[in-house]
Amino acid sequence: MVNNVFLSMIQYFGTDTKRINHALKVYGFATTLLVSENITGKLKECIDYAAILHDIGIHEAERKYQSTSGKYQEIEGPAIATKILKDCGITDEIIDRVCFLIGNHHSYQKIDGMDFQILVEADFLVNIHEDEMKKSSIESIRNNYFKTITGKRIIDSLYLVV
Ligand SMILES: [Fe+2]
Repeated sequence: MVNNVFLSMIQYFGTDTKRINHALKVYGFATTLLVSENITGKLKECIDYAAILHDIGIHEAERKYQSTSGKYQEIEGPAIATKILKDCGITDEIIDRVCFLIGNHHSYQKIDGMDFQILVEADFLVNIHEDEMKKSSIESIRNNYFKTITGKRIIDSLYLVV
């Protein structure tokens, strides 16, 4: 299942290796975090698919609004993710939750579960590097949004150890 979702994401993004690599990196960190938290079953499935597809709305956001802002990605992502996941045979229950995560993944005040928490931490671990964030911003992200022990350990060792 995960393999088919990966292939669909890669095909959807076409030659946009930047987005494909981003999804692969977020999936890698998300997997590390969910294994550390002993997450299995449907919750793991939701994290897997959400990590792979969380930015899938970015091309539509650029096309319709000439913007890659998180707000537009959140609007455009769920419909594209639904089609991909349905074609991969994923159940409606899982699709609904994954679409909620994709549709809100920049709305940190809406974090309501471990799947959402891990997606946000994994995305930050990648974005901090890709966006070349300042140390003060990284510290504030850690203090405000990081909750898992492993997520804190990784953000510290990657970005905050002097
Ligand atoms: Fe992302």
